[in-house]
Amino acid sequence: MAHADILAGPVSEALYRRALEAITGGVNSPSRGMEALGGGAPPFIERAEGAYLYDVDGRAYIDYVQAFGALILGHARPEMLRALDEASRRGLLFGACHPGEVQLAERLRQLFPVCEKVRFTASGTEAVMTAVRLARAATGRRVLVKFEGSYHGHFDAVLVGAGSGASTLGLDESAGIPEGIKADVVTLPYNDAPAAERWLEAHGRDAACVLVEPIVGNFGLVEPVPGFLERVARAARAVGALVIFDEVITAFRFRPGPVYVELGVEPDIVTFGKILGGGLPIGGYGARRHIMELVAPAGPVYQDGTWAGHPLSVACALATLDLIGQDAGLYRRLDDLGRALAAGVRDGAARRGVPLVVHQRCGAVSLFFTSEPDVRDFSGVRRTDARAFARFVRAMLRQGILLPPSPYEVWFLSAAHTEREVERTIRAVDAALEAVLDGS
Ligand SMILES: Cc1ncc(COP(=O)(O)O)c(C=O)c1O
Repeated sequence: MAHADILAGPVSEALYRRALEAITGGVNSPSRGMEALGGGAPPFIERAEGAYLYDVDGRAYIDYVQAFGALILGHARPEMLRALDEASRRGLLFGACHPGEVQLAERLRQLFPVCEKVRFTASGTEAVMTAVRLARAATGRRVLVKFEGSYHGHFDAVLVGAGSGASTLGLDESAGIPEGIKADVVTLPYNDAPAAERWLEAHGRDAACVLVEPIVGNFGLVEPVPGFLERVARAARAVGALVIFDEVITAFRFRPGPVYVELGVEPDIVTFGKILGGGLPIGGYGARRHIMELVAPAGPVYQDGTWAGHPLSVACALATLDLIGQDAGLYRRLDDLGRALAAGVRDGAARRGVPLVVHQRCGAVSLFFTSEPDVRDFSGVRRTDARAFARFVRAMLRQGILLPPSPYEVWFLSAAHTEREVERTIRAVDAALEAVLDGS
């Protein structure tokens, strides 16, 4: 598949050529590349507002990437810009304690029932990396148990059998990971509680933690089958392992807090990031007091960071919590739009006879080009039709709809999307499905 000619306009093309010379692979995060679509220049974005991105060629796109799930309020929301402006006038970085981080921690304690204490980091990767270190210190054990196709950031241990951008490039195992680290990681199939129970029963005495996305957002949107999380958590605790829920994508995506509250299973440690920062980098983790007090300087587990608790990220996080808190109808509206979008896509596929499974929860939607009845795990996503997906996404892009350029990523709606954008998207889906059928 070589479609390098049709994805982006001439100014983006020229920038991409320069980027390929100056930035390795032309991108600063592999997820942004067009490799899964057959290659070519991605649109280079000049500005963003509401539900739209505008590229350097003057093209507008309805944005369903939403910064890979980091945004829920839409782009350049005036209240967020004001919060950022006010915070920046007080100084950009202190390298010292400040009132905002205390306020933010106090508010998160109220929103995340298991978090008697929290700690902020600069990214989700750092949050999960420290959560795993903390679990290892708390249990005195070495093995990290996680699930196929999930993505938890880019530190060594979680890149063993990693999902998301790594899956897109077929790099389920990054090069450069020492054998010693691989030996301490076990990757099990998601949504297969008996497999997890069997493994934990047989080998669980070495397990420090079970790390899981409570709802997967990294091989499409895949929800846990009933009982999966409960059984995994029970089996982990039965052998003395801790349960870490990685809520970097899910926290604030489906409700004003972590999704585990809705799912009814509580972790021992929870990580968060993305949406909380309102567009600025943030991550963090929290747990009950006795676990969190193992972290330095209270205890012996080391975690540090020049950017941790960054005043601008914290100001944007506080503004995000305010805006989410003030908008009582936000998640209902996102769910209505998500349902309408999913229904429109399903109808279009049924009318044209394109085999398609659509998952939707609140404002998160994902499509699987498959004739199987459903997709429940990573192997199911791997069996989907990658060529049909690529044709579909390219045809959507040509119509001004920006979808994540990977079958493993989820489409996200934001508070700025309305029926108008969703209706336009559904009309575009019709033409894109035609492109899937005629192979263009
Ligand atoms: C579930 C999950 N955990 C962790 C991360 C890593 O977060 P970050 O990109 O902020 O390092 C991601 C990023 O996509 C994620 O989806």
